[in-house]
Amino acid sequence: MTDQAFVTLATNDSYVKGALVLASSLRQYNTKNKLVVLVTPQVSDSMRKILKKVYDDVRMVNVLDSGDSAHLALMKRPELGITLTKIHCWTLSEYTKCVFMDADTMVLCNIDELFEREELSAAPDPGWPDCFNSGVFVYKPSVETYNQLLKHAAEKGSFDGGDQGLLNSFFSSWATRDINKHLPFVYNLSSISIYSYLPAFKAFGANAKVVHFLGKAKPWNYTYDSKTKCTKSDLNDETVVHPEFLNLWWDLYTTRIIPLLTEEGVVKESTALQVEEIKEAVLQMSVSNSPQSVSSEERKERWEQGQVDYMGEDSYDNIKKKLDSYLQ
Ligand code: UDP
Ligand code: GLC
Ligand code: MN
Repeated sequence: MTDQAFVTLATNDSYVKGALVLASSLRQYNTKNKLVVLVTPQVSDSMRKILKKVYDDVRMVNVLDSGDSAHLALMKRPELGITLTKIHCWTLSEYTKCVFMDADTMVLCNIDELFEREELSAAPDPGWPDCFNSGVFVYKPSVETYNQLLKHAAEKGSFDGGDQGLLNSFFSSWATRDINKHLPFVYNLSSISIYSYLPAFKAFGANAKVVHFLGKAKPWNYTYDSKTKCTKSDLNDETVVHPEFLNLWWDLYTTRIIPLLTEEGVVKESTALQVEEIKEAVLQMSVSNSPQSVSSEERKERWEQGQVDYMGEDSYDNIKKKLDSYLQ
């Protein structure tokens, strides 16, 4: 089908990483539908070029921002006002039907059957199940609906300051009118549900079709050790208890996306995320190269205190050599 599309949004280079993994998961499971990404001018040229390698259509849109700090503060997510940009997806009227997916989602199998559903189909939100979660939804592009949504936003605002509040008050009959518009939870399995209802996850998690890394910590905020397949949070330095999905994300990112970033020469920026690996690489290198050989513990301590030998053993050239050998 060429007149149907999966659509996502990335307003900055971090979310582009998510969008790249999402697309590559959809391709991995041979979707027959088009892939479209909405981007805003903040996305760098090099990331846009890379998006063009995996998306059929990279569409520039302007930022829509609620600026609703009061509601966003309730969610402790001041950055989410910008998610109103998502409603631009209704303007893609050359497609007859679309499935919007957040850039922090990935598919675990082919989900093309979602296109048989009607607007607006979505799964319940894990925090408030009478609302749908707007990380995955089936919709019908229409400029008319887009204009109505804008009008609704201007007149009534959004109760959470982002798109989910707006969409739930616009499609307000979702909770009660038609059960066919309730997607099974496995089409939008929030990673936080693993903790909030572990027995259910143990019973049904194996049927997951889409995983959604909902919440502040995104997969790209973790450090992944590809050798041990161990994932650690950069935000609180804790090892993740159920890292299965996170490791899948990182597997795709390292095997499919890093090679694209390397081709485009942005690998420096992407590998900067893997601070721990870089530190280790530098440590190993300096331990094996250095005749006076400071202990690796001492070296690590110095590095962490900001005492880096930029001109000598820790020079950029040495780091790059080590990284190149890692990436090969
Ligand atoms: N988004 C974006 N830039 C931002 C914040 C959000 O492009 O700065 C997009 C992205 O597609 C993201 C979606 O809006 O997946 C919703 O935000 P997020 O996933 O962070 O919200 P959550 O699902 O964690 O509530
Ligand atoms: C949610 C959804 C996300 C949406 C955000 C703001 O938690 O997961 O897709 O953008 O709320 O409304
Ligand atoms: Mn999300």
